[in-house]
Amino acid sequence: MYETTTQAPLRARVAPNESTKLAQQDAMLTPRFYTTDFEQLNALKVTPENRPMWDAILKEFRDDPNKTHFKRNAEFDANFDDMDPALREQFMDFLVSSVTAEFSGCILYAEVKKRVKNPDVRELFGFMSRDEGRHAGFINHTLNDFNVAVDLSFLTKAKKYTFFQPKFIYYATYLSEKIGYARYITIYRNFEKQPEKRFHPIFKWFENWCLDEFRHGEAFAVLMRSNPELLEGRNKLWIRFFLLAVFCTMYVRDHARRPFFAAMGMEPDKFDREVITLTNLISRQVFPETIDTDNPRVWELMDEMWRNTQRMNEIEKAGGLLSSVRIAALKGANALVFLKLFMITPHRQALPADVRLEPVW
Ligand SMILES: [Fe+2]
Ligand SMILES: [Fe+2]
Repeated sequence: MYETTTQAPLRARVAPNESTKLAQQDAMLTPRFYTTDFEQLNALKVTPENRPMWDAILKEFRDDPNKTHFKRNAEFDANFDDMDPALREQFMDFLVSSVTAEFSGCILYAEVKKRVKNPDVRELFGFMSRDEGRHAGFINHTLNDFNVAVDLSFLTKAKKYTFFQPKFIYYATYLSEKIGYARYITIYRNFEKQPEKRFHPIFKWFENWCLDEFRHGEAFAVLMRSNPELLEGRNKLWIRFFLLAVFCTMYVRDHARRPFFAAMGMEPDKFDREVITLTNLISRQVFPETIDTDNPRVWELMDEMWRNTQRMNEIEKAGGLLSSVRIAALKGANALVFLKLFMITPHRQALPADVRLEPVW
């Protein structure tokens, strides 16, 4: 859509399994691996007025409150053989896309730590890479229980890397950290209300897990506030673009997983509205303009995008003579929907700059 890609050399000795192939795919809606111009990250500064907040966040990273959290207990030894096959497939799909997203962060952050000299940036990205590696490993352990673990070292070499210039990395990763937080906590709270629906113990780990993602987002927020040119002028348009791209991707993707949400006792419309509204609200700590989620037109257009995508999937499955023309027309229609979303007057009231958000929702 808005990136160029490069193919890393492929040196695997064994053929990848199905879940690794799934993780390797780069479709419009699947998680990607990123690379950037690492030199530019050296210029990032932490300004004196932001330094106390930065130091507090980095202290939390050093204290590592989740050091012992990602340890499995006996609940993981349960027999899941009688899981409904359709649910099993949807659960595996959810875990594969989650492990790909977590691992994507792990390798990007590790690369930043390796290639950048700026001591603040190096230290932060080292900690974040540690956390994402833990998250990816924990999910992959569950996939392994189902004999479908993703081969992460193969993926590192074989998956395409999408180049983003650094400022796009900041906007996209800040949002993916905050939306990751909002998703994990919303799923966790859902199962607190209806524990009988919790079909696997991994969901019990989401509460402390989401605090890691929240902290990652807080660190990006301090970095962007310390480099305010990232939040001014034409960059405001890029920020709006990334907010919408992240929200639309999630909306369309989750709506395609309606049976999975039903099995969890949830409904994608309600879930996505909650998660998007919360993420959008949190992002006002740093973004001067955000999406006006109180405007019903925003949701109507996201629904339209989802319906177009659904039709595309149906046409693709059915095949036929004119299928590619009809799919191209629907892609054009979705580009227009995106443009309409982009043209909606944004919300223009940022939170005060000295606010450090607490994850209290
Ligand atoms: Fe993570
Ligand atoms: Fe994270």
